[in-house]
Amino acid sequence: MGFPENFLWGGAMAANQCEGGIFEGGRGLANVDLCPSGSRRQEILRGHGKILQMEPGCHYPSAEAIDFYHHFREDIRLLGEMGFRVFRLSIAWTRIFPKGDEEKPNEEGLRFYDEIFEECKKYGIQPLVTISHFDCPVYLIEKYGGWRDRRMIDFYLCLCRVLFTRYQDKVTLWLTFNEINMILHAPFMGAGLCFREGENEELVKYQAAHHELVASALATKLAHEINPKNQVGCMFAAGSVYPFSCRPEDVWEALLKEQENYFFVDVQSRGYYPAYAKIRLQKRGIFPQMQTGDEEILKKYPVDFISFSYYNSRCVSAGTQEMAEGNLFQSAKNPFVNYSDWGWPIDPLGLRITLNQVYDRYQKPMFIVENGLGAEDIPEADGKIFDDYRIEYLREHIQEMKKAVEEDGVELMGYTSWAPIDLISAGTGEMKKRYGFIYVDKQEDGSGTRKRTRKKSFYWYQKVIETNGEEL
Ligand code: BG6
Repeated sequence: MGFPENFLWGGAMAANQCEGGIFEGGRGLANVDLCPSGSRRQEILRGHGKILQMEPGCHYPSAEAIDFYHHFREDIRLLGEMGFRVFRLSIAWTRIFPKGDEEKPNEEGLRFYDEIFEECKKYGIQPLVTISHFDCPVYLIEKYGGWRDRRMIDFYLCLCRVLFTRYQDKVTLWLTFNEINMILHAPFMGAGLCFREGENEELVKYQAAHHELVASALATKLAHEINPKNQVGCMFAAGSVYPFSCRPEDVWEALLKEQENYFFVDVQSRGYYPAYAKIRLQKRGIFPQMQTGDEEILKKYPVDFISFSYYNSRCVSAGTQEMAEGNLFQSAKNPFVNYSDWGWPIDPLGLRITLNQVYDRYQKPMFIVENGLGAEDIPEADGKIFDDYRIEYLREHIQEMKKAVEEDGVELMGYTSWAPIDLISAGTGEMKKRYGFIYVDKQEDGSGTRKRTRKKSFYWYQKVIETNGEEL
């Protein structure tokens, strides 16, 4: 049986982690530009260290990133060479609306993405566009406080209208917000939130989340109105939560954590706040303010498909356990899985489990839009890169994904690995945490030629696509 003929194989990147060129093309500053590398990054991502302008002495890795802004033709040609059928990319909001609340978009920014889409077309690559991948104009943060303010919905929809109209002949696959549940873990990065002294942070986060959820529903409505062929997906950071043991208290804790994550997708896919969320948020005094009509909006415009990132499963205990890393989520250390060099669990079967759980819950087509291994690649003396560890990681995950399709019958539209070309890490801001099939000669200290080199995994993934996942 295998994967369906039209299965969308490809890779995913985000504007702020690859483009650079933040002062070019009339672009404005965004939250993501102001996340420095080094020890302060975490505090800032989490909304606890307000910097709304670049500070001397700080290094801002997104400023240049891998300079996709100037290399995109060459980069997309390489994706074409690998046989990509889909390329997931994101729009830098501030290239289109530099401040965020202008009436007219910036033509130069729109033209940049036109060129990208035209380049994709040359190689038969379909774009999958994330409207906001951790992107919020700094001006909107200063003036409105980011997504805590309801007016953000209108600014976001204004962006959506421009994108859906301008690119209606070029793009039909859209994601409204990248990893929408990340707002709970990295609220500055996820929603431009900087906390004020003494405020109820949980309430602010859920209020901002509510605004994003309404914005996502209205964007779905708009996308369908502008082009009925548009398909809109939600996107969340997935990874099943295992109980640390079969102790009922551990199982219960795991269920609570699952609900915390699924809350967003429950609303975006089923169209209403689930009972568990209503009761618990109200009890904790953090139920967001809603306007009349919000519930109807959520109900009427659910997403068409469900996409997610999967890097690892998580593990939870009712007691105290040794903790592990993993995509900004706290998790107990699972003794039954291996760990990456950055301490993230490696759990391929967890992907099959997650696919089944998500499908059981929503019964909608799914799309795996991120999955990959962050590792340090050391080129040989002749410049070649043998990244067998990455091939092994991806192979094992794709094998499990295949079983979920063939043996469990989940409906899966495609798979985009994170990330086909090395780029800046979102969590740490490092360059040395590499995910790509394509190596970028840029080192942690900024040195290097920016030259692109095909790694061993490049040829491996090329074969995977060519054989529609038969040869792994
Ligand atoms: C996801 C994000 O959380 O994980 C990406 O959507 C990110 O933007 C990816 O890059 C991997 O995380 P990291 O911290 O290794 O870059």
